[in-house]
Amino acid sequence: MATAQEPVRIAGPLKTWYDLHEALGHEIGVLADLAAHLTLDSLDAFAERFAYFERELRNHSEVEDGIMFPAVAERGGAVDPRLGAEHREEQGRTYDLGCALLHAKAARTPEALAALAGATAALRDSLRHHLALEEDEVLGQVDRLFAPDEQARLLGTIFSALPADPGLQPWVAAALTPEHLEARLRNMAASLPRGALVAALAQIRDGVDAATWAEVQSRTPDLAALAAPDTDGG
Ligand SMILES: [Fe+2]
Ligand SMILES: [Fe+2]
Repeated sequence: MATAQEPVRIAGPLKTWYDLHEALGHEIGVLADLAAHLTLDSLDAFAERFAYFERELRNHSEVEDGIMFPAVAERGGAVDPRLGAEHREEQGRTYDLGCALLHAKAARTPEALAALAGATAALRDSLRHHLALEEDEVLGQVDRLFAPDEQARLLGTIFSALPADPGLQPWVAAALTPEHLEARLRNMAASLPRGALVAALAQIRDGVDAATWAEVQSRTPDLAALAAPDTDGG
C-alpha cells in the first residue's frame, strides 16, 4: 500500500493506557542510561529503580493478557498472540537482568557492571518496539469496540483487580511530562469512581516529590484538593 495511515489513538477513558506506556518507556530509558555509566556506588540506586520498573512492567503485561486483550477479543477485536509471547520474552529479559544485577553486586568487578549496560539497552529497545506495536495493533481498535462508558467500567475493573500498590500512581506521575500528567489526572477524574480517584490522588500526594506535587496543585487544583487529608468531612 502506498498510503501510510496514522495509527488511531484512543479518545475514550482507556487512553490512560498511553500513560503507562509512556512511563514504562521513560523508565527503561533512564535505566539504560544509568546502566551505561554504572559504578559500584550507583549500583544500589540502579537496583532499586529497576526493581520498581520490573514490578510495574509485569503488572502492566498481566493486565493486558488477563483483562484487556480478552475483553478486546470478546468484542471481536484482533489480538496477535505474538504480543503475549513478547510479554513472556520481556519477563525472561528482566529475570536475566535481575540475575546479572545480583552477580554484579556479588562480584563487584568492572566486567560484571559492564554486562548490565548491554542487557538493559536490549530490554529498552525490545520494550519500546513492543509498546509501539501494541499501540498500533490493539489500542487503535479500542474506541471502535467499546463506548466511553464501557471503557470507564473496564478501567474501574482493572483498578479494582490490581494488587494494592500505593507506589504505582506516584511512579507513573513522576515519569510523565507535566502536560501528560495533567491529561492523565483529568481522564481519571472523568472516568473513575470517586473513591478510586481520591485514593489515587492521595497516593500521588504521598509518593511524589514536592516539585511534582506542586505541578499537580497548580495544574489541577480541584483534584489536588481531593487528596488533602482533611477535605472529606464524611
Ligand atoms: Fe504489552
Ligand atoms: Fe502495554
